[in-house]
Amino acid sequence: MKKTINPFDYAGDIIKALPKGILLTSEAEDCVNAMTIGWGTLGIEWGVPIFAAYVRTNRFTHDLIERTGEFTICAPVGELTKEAAKAIGLCGTKSGRDMDKLAKAGLHLVEADIVRPPAIKEFPLTLECRVVFSQLQPLKDINSRFNKFYVPNTAHSEPHVAYYGEILKAYIIED
Ligand SMILES: Cc1cc2nc3c(=O)[nH]c(=O)nc-3n(C[C@H](O)[C@H](O)[C@H](O)COP(=O)(O)O)c2cc1C
Repeated sequence: MKKTINPFDYAGDIIKALPKGILLTSEAEDCVNAMTIGWGTLGIEWGVPIFAAYVRTNRFTHDLIERTGEFTICAPVGELTKEAAKAIGLCGTKSGRDMDKLAKAGLHLVEADIVRPPAIKEFPLTLECRVVFSQLQPLKDINSRFNKFYVPNTAHSEPHVAYYGEILKAYIIED
């Protein structure tokens, strides 16, 4: 069962969970993937609720969102279980190019109502998002204080694309 919510009633839960990591799912051509994100912005633009995710161009997730323009944000409610913490570690270190991370983490997928990428039972707080704007963040335009996030010739060399997802539906998955 899904309990529909106003995402802004849960803004604190989502933003406070981000530093430890929450999951973003994407899907294209029957390939479903989850990646851990630690950065994100919840707010309003064009009069609609928006979750903006920042995805480096070298992520598999970047390829999938580019293809479909959809993603789902999946956050825990309350304390992180051991299994959920493990999934955050796996989905934040391995690429969906090399393995089915969702299966490996033993997560249970729940069909979303509007978008193709699924929700996740173990991360019940769900935002179904469709990209309404995206923008590459050129390194030259980022304040030099943040150079440490972009180290040439490493996995951290690539810039981020900001994906502004309109939140089409928000809910908590209940048993
Ligand atoms: C706590 C944590 C937060 C992360 N946040 C982000 C993020 O906001 N944006 C990003 O591009 N990568 C982030 N990463 C790295 C990706 O999750 C990681 O590179 C992942 O393996 C990419 O998966 P994919 O290739 O299947 O898309 C984070 C990793 C961790 C552990």
